[in-house]
Amino acid sequence: MGKVAVGAAVVCAAAVCAAAALVVRHRMISSRKWARAVAILKEFEEKCGTPILKLRQVADAMDVEMHAGLASEGGSKLNMLISFVDNLPTGDEEGLYYALDLGGTNFRVLRVHLGGKDNGVIGQEFEEVSIPPHLMTGSSDALFDFIAAALAKFVGSEPEGFHPPPGRQRELGFTFSFPVRQTSIASGTLIKWTKGFNIEDAVGEDVVGELTKSLEKIGLDMRVAALVNDTIGTLAGGRFYNQDVIAAVILGTGTNAAYVERAHAIPKWHGLIPKSGDMVINMEWGNFRSSHLPLTEYDQALDAESLNPGEQIFEKLISGMYLGEIVRRALLRMAEEADFFGDTVPPKLKVPFILRTPDMSAMHHDTTSDLRVVGNKLKDILEISNTSLKMRKIVVELCDIVATRGARLAAAGILGILKKIGRDTVKVGEKQNSVIALDGGLFEHYTKFRVCLESTLKELLGDEAAETIVIEHANDGSGIGAALLAASHSQYLGVEES
Ligand code: GLC
Repeated sequence: MGKVAVGAAVVCAAAVCAAAALVVRHRMISSRKWARAVAILKEFEEKCGTPILKLRQVADAMDVEMHAGLASEGGSKLNMLISFVDNLPTGDEEGLYYALDLGGTNFRVLRVHLGGKDNGVIGQEFEEVSIPPHLMTGSSDALFDFIAAALAKFVGSEPEGFHPPPGRQRELGFTFSFPVRQTSIASGTLIKWTKGFNIEDAVGEDVVGELTKSLEKIGLDMRVAALVNDTIGTLAGGRFYNQDVIAAVILGTGTNAAYVERAHAIPKWHGLIPKSGDMVINMEWGNFRSSHLPLTEYDQALDAESLNPGEQIFEKLISGMYLGEIVRRALLRMAEEADFFGDTVPPKLKVPFILRTPDMSAMHHDTTSDLRVVGNKLKDILEISNTSLKMRKIVVELCDIVATRGARLAAAGILGILKKIGRDTVKVGEKQNSVIALDGGLFEHYTKFRVCLESTLKELLGDEAAETIVIEHANDGSGIGAALLAASHSQYLGVEES
């Protein structure tokens, strides 16, 4: 071999060695990064842990806070709001009523025909309208004017048989799914906004007064006969079909619960004890907090950057508005600290609330062998392409951690209510069924969340008690429930039609 050839061979060998070294180094770096990403995931999983003992502590804390909130105004983070609903539907309600259901990015207007005993709901029609985002943070006049206009349009399509007799007003059940301090069944003031609404001039305002003003402005003669939270509407709607319903839980954009309490067990209640002896309480459990809640740094950052820092902590762990956002935050950390998606952090991953819970749910339920749905969601929403199967599996794991924690905490909350009303155990010689009406998009559409909630509640209750507790999906019960409550609080009750 000539000198030149030897030289060339040496140079080649050196280059091959260098390249091989580079590959090894790259592999070492990427395996180190991978290990870091897995470590972030594992640490997150550990902090989100909800072993049964912790859930029992959460349930006990819920029970304690319920007592405190019932004892005095401001006695607890739980407002335990008095709804002025002391009689739930009996099934005898009849007549034609309107309902308005406002509580998220959409609102619904409904027309309900109640048939009285044995006939149930004879007919209902509804329309759904989405609220332009600028109205969720604008002025209260603008929001109520917009709603009144939609309601007027809907009333305009009223069939002839629906027109009220001369001299009578149309009556409305108004489901307003925010914390309201009620002053009667049909009046109350807004305590604060939740779920991304932030209209300053509406806080402390008379909610029905505002709506009525807008209805008058547009020339619609309609009386608000009942003002209810969605949990109260769902409880009323559930009771119409099943007299064993004792509580209602919403798992949607936000989360909350209502239940039937004995009026004498409400020390802060200074009204007349109703004949029924009962009073429905809107817990506003979204605002529950306890040192037993498994809060992580991601939850703390989400809370600090939210529109309502320090508020609605339970809601921020459980409800549909936040689950996808928690997953995004954990993924962002993995991208920043472990180059999980390559050398640069995908810009879209930095956009708050870009990953919505329905998309998280779709990824979590992906059954394709190559996790194609996960790959497509990452590409379409976050503009991250070329993800490996290994990476997609991590994303699914993240979804699982966040959804499981939320579902198990919701189950613990339900156990807290059952404890408060003494239905968490079976008394000797007594087998009383208790039905809890559940509604909301998260419960309805996020199957793994629902299944986990149901199995956790069974686990917490034990076999014997679990047999007496039924979770029933009250499909869109809150609108019908509001119409039912409008019927039972109609100004024309007992007045013969002329
Ligand atoms: C939020 C509201 C509450 C409502 C719940 C479910 O928590 O504050 O009033 O019931 O969302 O919509």
